[in-house]
Amino acid sequence: MVEDPQPSADEAPASGISRRRLLTTGAATTLVGAGLGAGGVALLGSPGHGPSLWTRPNQRGAQPVGGLHLQFGKDAATDVVVSWHTTDPVRNPRVMMGTPTSGFGRTVQAETRTYRDAKSNTEVRVHHARLDRLAPDTDYVYAAVHDGTNPELGTVRTAPSGRSPLRFTSFGDQAIPTQGQFTNPIYGIHNLGSPAAGDITTAIERLAPLFNLVNGDLCYANLAHDRIRTWSDWFDNNTRSARYRPWMPAAGNHENELGNGPIGYAAYQAYFTVPDSASDGELRGLWYSFTAGSVRIISLNNDDVCFQDGGNSYIHGYSGGAQKRWLESELASARADKRIDWVVVCMHQTAISTADHTNGADLGIRQEWLPLFDRYQVDLVVCGHEHHYERSHPVRGAQDAETKTPIPVEDHGDVIDTSKGTVHLVIGGGGTSTPSNALFFPQPRCRVVTGIGAFDDAIGRKAPIYVVEEAPWSAFRDSQNPYGFVAFDVDPGPPGGNTSIKATHYAVNGPYGSVNVVEQFTLTRPRGG
Ligand SMILES: [Fe+2]
Ligand SMILES: [Fe+2]
Repeated sequence: MVEDPQPSADEAPASGISRRRLLTTGAATTLVGAGLGAGGVALLGSPGHGPSLWTRPNQRGAQPVGGLHLQFGKDAATDVVVSWHTTDPVRNPRVMMGTPTSGFGRTVQAETRTYRDAKSNTEVRVHHARLDRLAPDTDYVYAAVHDGTNPELGTVRTAPSGRSPLRFTSFGDQAIPTQGQFTNPIYGIHNLGSPAAGDITTAIERLAPLFNLVNGDLCYANLAHDRIRTWSDWFDNNTRSARYRPWMPAAGNHENELGNGPIGYAAYQAYFTVPDSASDGELRGLWYSFTAGSVRIISLNNDDVCFQDGGNSYIHGYSGGAQKRWLESELASARADKRIDWVVVCMHQTAISTADHTNGADLGIRQEWLPLFDRYQVDLVVCGHEHHYERSHPVRGAQDAETKTPIPVEDHGDVIDTSKGTVHLVIGGGGTSTPSNALFFPQPRCRVVTGIGAFDDAIGRKAPIYVVEEAPWSAFRDSQNPYGFVAFDVDPGPPGGNTSIKATHYAVNGPYGSVNVVEQFTLTRPRGG
């Protein structure tokens, strides 16, 4: 079935120019172009700042603004970070911004963070401009630029403040769009690219969410011959969406790159400025939270607790319990906050999987995270690592077994009360060349990594130890479609009633944003205020 996605709930900003019109008709670009071409100062904002946008590449040509993308700050209603990167040093990196009607009246200087890739010895410079004190539920236009190059333009809509409808999307395990594997074995599949990694970006943009959660394994640079090009290609592919809406990431095992920082995440930490969680500098950005409407999103890095050896180095336990302590206090404060109804966790490795011959589920997550998810009634977990889509029943508690099998509290129906149990979604069909939708056990079974053995030369890592168990929590498995994502539409509901999230799993099945609906279900819980 092919279905046209419905327009997002955030269609009509206060400015009177709809977001869709801005994006699909190029109204923002037209605004800028007209301004530059004919008396641009007035259209572009204050006379003092207008001409600074009118930069021309100098004779030598500075590197362009590469991989323009956004992140929300801790309060998505008021804070946004604009980021781009170069390998050359640049002068005066800055963002000019304003509203569609007022123009680019405000200039914000960017701060530059760098990392040096240990494999290529290339230094990457990532420029981050923090736009704060924004108005909720409002469209902004911006231009990112540094001296000697042309500005790159984008728009962003801030989150509504309080209980309002909003849409977000989620998937993981994307890689980069390439047909190289079909034409040139030199380029091969060393970084797991496929054409679907491009198609999914088009599809996300078609759905126009307020933000997109990226559930780890972004581009597989740690497998690539050329890590820098792989990151660059990933941002080049996704900037056509991520410059208009934040793509908020969780770090996966393939963000762990040998030699890049003390635990391998220096590239990931440089490319993204996520909300601060007061962690040590070396661990900055690996876990964080932000609020959009009545939803608190918590992003975790599961390599800290997983037994599986999945990155370029084995870093189990790297935070010394710091991430778990932060998670518990974060969950407690979310549940104590009367403005928050929904607690959603975005992470990479999974506590559930019914696929064989893939990574499986990890006991470390079940031991360390799931008791906290139970205690604080986490509503929804989105993850990846397994390259397919599947859904659990709401689960609460664990069997008294070696694998701590999650216990389903309901086993039927498509309206799920998440105050009774947490729903886990594996959404790992983001675009890699190695989908696992054809690898499901015929009857639901789960391979659980319960530990690791010695380093195995044949696989180049510590060998996982598996226990296979029944999977009574299994609710839905998509064996038909290798690629897809989920859209979540939050309905705040009436005071004193229930709030809900309608979830739609879309399969991505071609270019031009071609999708079809595979399954829909609704999460519901009593509204807090
Ligand atoms: Fe993956
Ligand atoms: Fe992974």
